[in-house]
Amino acid sequence: ERTPTGCPVSQRAAEFDPFEDGYQQDPPEYVRWAREQEPIFYSPKLGYWVITRYDDIKAVFRDNLTFSPSNALEKITPTGDEANAVLASYGFALNRTLVNEDEPAHMPRRRALMDPFTPEALKHHEPLVRELARSYVDRFIDDGKADLVDQMLWEIPLTVALHFLGVPEEDMDTLRKYSIAHTVNTWGRPKPEEQVAVAHAVGNFWQYAGKVLEKMRQDPDAPGWMQYGIRKQMQHPEVVTDSYLHSMMMAGIVAAHETTANATANAVKLLLQHPQVWQELCEDPGLIPNAVEECLRHNGSVAAWRRLVTKDTQVGGVDLPAGSRLLIVTSSANHDEGHFSDADLFDIRRDNASDHLTFGYGSHQCMGKNLARMEMQIFLEEFTRRLPHMRLSPQRFSYVPNTSFRGPEHLWVEWDPRANPERADA
Ligand code: HEM
Repeated sequence: ERTPTGCPVSQRAAEFDPFEDGYQQDPPEYVRWAREQEPIFYSPKLGYWVITRYDDIKAVFRDNLTFSPSNALEKITPTGDEANAVLASYGFALNRTLVNEDEPAHMPRRRALMDPFTPEALKHHEPLVRELARSYVDRFIDDGKADLVDQMLWEIPLTVALHFLGVPEEDMDTLRKYSIAHTVNTWGRPKPEEQVAVAHAVGNFWQYAGKVLEKMRQDPDAPGWMQYGIRKQMQHPEVVTDSYLHSMMMAGIVAAHETTANATANAVKLLLQHPQVWQELCEDPGLIPNAVEECLRHNGSVAAWRRLVTKDTQVGGVDLPAGSRLLIVTSSANHDEGHFSDADLFDIRRDNASDHLTFGYGSHQCMGKNLARMEMQIFLEEFTRRLPHMRLSPQRFSYVPNTSFRGPEHLWVEWDPRANPERADA
């Protein structure tokens, strides 16, 4: 097999398949060979160029004109006619939001919508996160075991996301189903027989987003980032368009929710796999902010992102013609020895941990990063204080097969409730 530029494809490049268990379990380990020997390769199975080193990925993020983000929310696996017809029957038209918007439209929109993300604005959400974290832990603290994903980490970030966006609280289970369908539809490889069910869920999600937006337009002064966007639209209709609002109403729920739920589950798993580190954290919660960065670096919730090459160019000495699609494996960049010394070591005191690329980089860098950090810090504060004696239960971790959004579907932990610190305090 050959690359689109005519060079032969190495055997490992030919075998690369991000929907296999190897990538799902540990993306940076799965592409270690590439990071070390063939940092940019063409994957014939995917039809993408795969980029694995820190400096190359940063160079791509830095130039959003040559490397357009327009394919960030495209279906990575084209679906068949039947699924496409189902999506069309719902009027599905997810289009540009921010993350996949090109210049010159992107920057004015990003600036217009930034205020609700300032540190002062985010402070308003802190009490809600704290209260939710406490009340969810209350529900299971006497049980001695819990699936932290099902019993806490999925629902709280969803509740916070809905609150931040301004969506009245809705049926969580339905939204959970919708958002997984969106992930599979965008970054997964559903089997032909699954595609139709996924298309129905995504179509329903799209219509649901439209209805919520209509309701919000009746009360545009209510708090919420979407209402803020509706008010901005009145002043700048060409910057904040109808298509933007409808698309963001759907994509925003996933962007704010799944990423954060997965990031926290990955972090707790990683910490409990290193019991000594966990103990240090319990003894000195002042280490939590940097531990969060190190968890995002070592085992983040976005494993890879995408760009589209708009003109013939080169990255790391490799020719990439216009039209090339890029899978930039940010989780691999985060394990690059060229940037992080002893990169595989989990070190919560690492001084450049926050250089990780899990939130992207440059003009599209995650707008919600400080909201996500705040949530993760509060979860860890509550866990270290109330459940310092928890440990991982024996289990095999499973992941929703896809290139980008990554976190265990379940996370079982256990502890001796008789040793709960608050019983001693009582
Ligand atoms: C963009 C990751 C949480 C809102 C992004 C990008 C990534 C990302 C990789 C694309 C960056 C790029 O192209 O350079 C994450 C992770 C999160 C998280 C790992 C949690 C740990 C959130 C939250 C929100 C949010 C809580 C809140 C609403 C956004 C928005 C963009 C974005 C609006 C688009 C920014 C733009 O294109 O200008 N995020 N995100 N994210 N994220 Fe997040």
